[in-house]
Amino acid sequence: MKNKRTKISIIGAGKVGATLAMRVAEDNLGDVFLLDIDKDLAYGKALDLKDNLAVLNCPGKVNCSSNYTRLRDSDIVVISAGFFRQPGMSRQDLLIKNKEIIAKIISEIKKYTPQAIIILVTNPLDVLTYLTYKLSKFPRQRIMGMSGVLDAGRFSALIAEALNISSQNIQAMVLGMHGDLMLPLARYSTICGIPFTQFLTREQIEELVKKTRNRGAEIVSYLKSSAYYAPSAAIFLMLKAIINDEKRILPASVYLQGEYGLKDVCLGVPVRMGREGIEEIIELKLNKQEKKLLQESAKKVKEGINKLGI
Ligand code: 2OP
Repeated sequence: MKNKRTKISIIGAGKVGATLAMRVAEDNLGDVFLLDIDKDLAYGKALDLKDNLAVLNCPGKVNCSSNYTRLRDSDIVVISAGFFRQPGMSRQDLLIKNKEIIAKIISEIKKYTPQAIIILVTNPLDVLTYLTYKLSKFPRQRIMGMSGVLDAGRFSALIAEALNISSQNIQAMVLGMHGDLMLPLARYSTICGIPFTQFLTREQIEELVKKTRNRGAEIVSYLKSSAYYAPSAAIFLMLKAIINDEKRILPASVYLQGEYGLKDVCLGVPVRMGREGIEEIIELKLNKQEKKLLQESAKKVKEGINKLGI
């Protein structure tokens, strides 16, 4: 019996959304549906993506629309629509403009595809993941924010460069908010299974943590827009973990109900990701300093949540 192909809807045909559509279609992970309020943008990118698949002789499928009714029967919806940072802006500066956009999108998802898993990308990520959870009223295992996979990838890239080793040997773990108070966890990050702390001094680690936190803003200062290759790659890994039911442990922003001593907030923590979405929240044993930093990160996200007015 042929299984139904997974329908992956991507809302926002900007650089992140369109690069993700390309990755998904080239990997034939599922049928891609690209939606944008700018019909020409969605249509133009979909045509180019179809041609891209033909050139590469890939069997993938890409469709597009500016009409939300076409979300119907989506298995997974990725939301990357909204304003992105300009140089000098923090992700939190985007809250007022992006919260309205996300609220509208959630109402359409509830109408046309109430069974979907939702992956948020739009910033401020943790606050808008929280907004999505509250407005959708979906079970929390079907709501997640893409943050830690990206930040852990950046942390790995910086460590690989500092030690002149392959990033393939590095397993980095990043918790907390997707922003200045993110928490790259050196104690739980390894090189060939050996903790970072055996390779790097405390000062070196602190320097690399600072650079990881600033990487997004650094790229914005050059591009005058947000990054899109690594963010789309991070979402792609999450989609593969869900669609292929990989039971993979990945960091993601999820709604906490007491885990890590935190309630009623969305924050990046390690989760087991599979067919159902967030199948388990993994509670790492944190030391006093790590717990304190995670609390500070949660407090910062709650400041944003309080501005949602919900
Ligand atoms: C970044 O850090 C877009 O927040 C994303 O590049």
